[in-house]
Amino acid sequence: MRPYVIIVSAMSIDGRIASKIGYSRLSCPFDLKRLHEVRASVDAIMVGANTIINDDPALTPRYVKADRNPIRVVIDGRLRIPITARVITNKEAPTIIVTTESAPANKLAEIKGLGVEVWVVGKERVDLGKTLERLYTERGVRRVLVEGGGHLNWQLIKEGLVDEVRLTVSPYVFGSGTSFLEGEGYPTTSEGPRLRLVSVRVCECGNEVVLDYVVDREGIIKMGE
Ligand SMILES: NC(=O)c1ccc[n+]([C@@H]2O[C@H](COP(=O)([O-])OP(=O)(O)OC[C@H]3O[C@@H](n4cnc5c(N)ncnc54)[C@H](OP(=O)(O)O)[C@@H]3O)[C@@H](O)[C@H]2O)c1
Repeated sequence: MRPYVIIVSAMSIDGRIASKIGYSRLSCPFDLKRLHEVRASVDAIMVGANTIINDDPALTPRYVKADRNPIRVVIDGRLRIPITARVITNKEAPTIIVTTESAPANKLAEIKGLGVEVWVVGKERVDLGKTLERLYTERGVRRVLVEGGGHLNWQLIKEGLVDEVRLTVSPYVFGSGTSFLEGEGYPTTSEGPRLRLVSVRVCECGNEVVLDYVVDREGIIKMGE
């Protein structure tokens, strides 16, 4: 068993979630509020190591009333995130850093010493399926919000671990940088998951579109026949 997994992402019209220098402020205030509403509605928020290194997000629900703070889950196979990261120093919410057997033992001990939980799930790559299973069984996590970046998004999609994708298309172009999905890719549309559009909205700002897709599992089975 695993939790329901939602990826939320803001992208430029050319599908980038960050520019070539890592600039990623693509959300208008309305979109930011929407993101924080989703944060307040889930049990855990998951991000990849590079997102922590580049953006240093606190990953707590703000701008909305929240009953509690979701668990912050950082996927960091080699424990590259700095110990000054807000997910470590800010104690408003629990953090679990998920790493591998290849992580340096001294950094692991250092992070644990700072009162942050570290899980070793995998030899060289974090096993995302197992991580989600553990979150479900050991922590009662039923809904996970994934906030990128592109590599983590790709890996979760590729492993069939995503149920819903909410995208905000913002009126910018970057031309290069980090894409919504960063991986080896699919050769044609047949190999990837089939997505079903469940809602389209124009943002209150009037210049962004919010798209909500669910992964159509029946579609995938039919395509494989
Ligand atoms: N616009 C938006 O909505 C938005 C949201 C989030 C992030 N961003 C931007 O996205 C950029 C970061 O994206 P990114 O693609 O470079 O990195 P990322 O997905 O944040 O992190 C990727 C790293 O996570 C680690 N990792 C460990 N196990 C993994 C696994 N099983 N699958 C995937 N990753 C695993 C890997 O590092 P190790 O090999 O060291 O383990 C990998 O390099 C930043 O510039 C950030 O600003 C934008």
